[in-house]
Amino acid sequence: MSGYILAIDQGTTSSRAIVFDRDMRVAGVGQKEFTQIYPQSGWVEHDPEEIWKSVVTTIRQALKQAGVEASEISGIGITNQRETVVVWERESGKPIHNAIVWQDRRTASYCEKLKRQDLEKTFTRKTGLLLDPYFSGTKLSWMLANVKGARARAARGELCFGTIDCFLIWRLTGGKSFVTDATNASRTLLFNISTEEWDPELLKILRIPAGMLPEVKDCAADFGVTEKSLFGAEIPILGVAGDQQAATIGQACFEPGMLKSTYGTGCFALLNTGTDMVRSKNRLLTTIAYRLDGKTTYALEGSIFIAGAAVQWLRDGLKVIKKAEESGKLAADADPTQDVYLVPAFTGLGAPHWDPDARGAIYGMTRNTGPAEFARAALEAVCYQTRDLLDAMHKDWKTSGADTVLRVDGGMVASDWTMQRLADILDAPVDRPTILETTALGAAWLAGQRAGVWPKQQGFAKAWARDTRFEPQMDAKTRAKKLKGWHEAVRRTLS
Ligand code: G3P
Repeated sequence: MSGYILAIDQGTTSSRAIVFDRDMRVAGVGQKEFTQIYPQSGWVEHDPEEIWKSVVTTIRQALKQAGVEASEISGIGITNQRETVVVWERESGKPIHNAIVWQDRRTASYCEKLKRQDLEKTFTRKTGLLLDPYFSGTKLSWMLANVKGARARAARGELCFGTIDCFLIWRLTGGKSFVTDATNASRTLLFNISTEEWDPELLKILRIPAGMLPEVKDCAADFGVTEKSLFGAEIPILGVAGDQQAATIGQACFEPGMLKSTYGTGCFALLNTGTDMVRSKNRLLTTIAYRLDGKTTYALEGSIFIAGAAVQWLRDGLKVIKKAEESGKLAADADPTQDVYLVPAFTGLGAPHWDPDARGAIYGMTRNTGPAEFARAALEAVCYQTRDLLDAMHKDWKTSGADTVLRVDGGMVASDWTMQRLADILDAPVDRPTILETTALGAAWLAGQRAGVWPKQQGFAKAWARDTRFEPQMDAKTRAKKLKGWHEAVRRTLS
């Protein structure tokens, strides 16, 4: 049987490959974690070669588990950790440096310098983003300035820059395709989201030669075919989207006002604003949700850097749980009379504060505070931060459905306790879908519908199904008291 679709989900801590069948059901999965490199405090790197190997390995695993040959795959959809920067040699395909990961804060002072030159307005107007080290542009600039000979080589056209999707496509096609998609481009700080072109003025400010940038395509397009030697047959790459945008698609948030939040390493909430490029007055991002058939749909995005990573901290740092799944159960045992707040600013704070220098803090501890209160504080912090994002969205887009149902996905949503607390803190319903592989599903849909084996937008949206709806149950007084305590804790944590 043909008509299988392969999704590659290259995330921050692991690479995954998933084979879906014609009926959009998971037929095989491969997963591999890879090394997180921390050269200095606040710096985070990945080895692109290790990422590449992990992707090839997981694809082979997924094909094997599904019992499917490469020749039976009708198309590949790629989704990826966004903003992470790779620079490689055009001639050999060899990276010139480790990838600088989205979480990396090394360009904080450079961003400050650009802000002092009053340049943030220009960047925001053109890209919808802010001058924060989170985005690719200043990271790329750092590489050109700090890797010996890189600037001159880039000027001579010898180097290529790409986000992870672009690097993987280059490798998968044996260097034949140097392309990315509009969603990944929209996270670089170099891409003008109105003209949908690399912006010459911004490139000049950051001293980046245009010749090292890839061609930008729609999310569903012909991105090239894989080398036959890799998997035994050529497979067309037909879909690409950054992981948060792919989750928006996978959650079928196709209508303006629809909202999703993904709880992975961080938490990213995206509100579909349709063809409206909503300019945030509350430090949210304006970004491209997807571009299909040349038509761009925009989103307002709130980005929180630590979500699942706080659970990892409970497990690996504090060692109060053995497995991430235990966190909700432990939190449920916490003493309700203790008001303990954790502000997980481990790598600074993202939206709406954007404070790269803030660091984590815990407030309200007593002699009776123990593992259960820490677990509850870590999980509640994710809920409070989501609330802050939704409040900001509501202020930015009054006509929006920011107060409609929140569709959730990502590892943390398996915990009923956390999802109930989320609904309580938001004072809004939270919907958990039956398919939790939302990010991979979104990438697969881009490829599947282009290959003609999966339904188009409407049919796909109809197939979205809910597993559980969590309705708010907390009384208004308790919620208000908790939110007040949270905002006080954040205020004391800002740098
Ligand atoms: O912007 C960063 C985001 O794309 C990373 O997502 O799921 O790897 O935490 P994730």
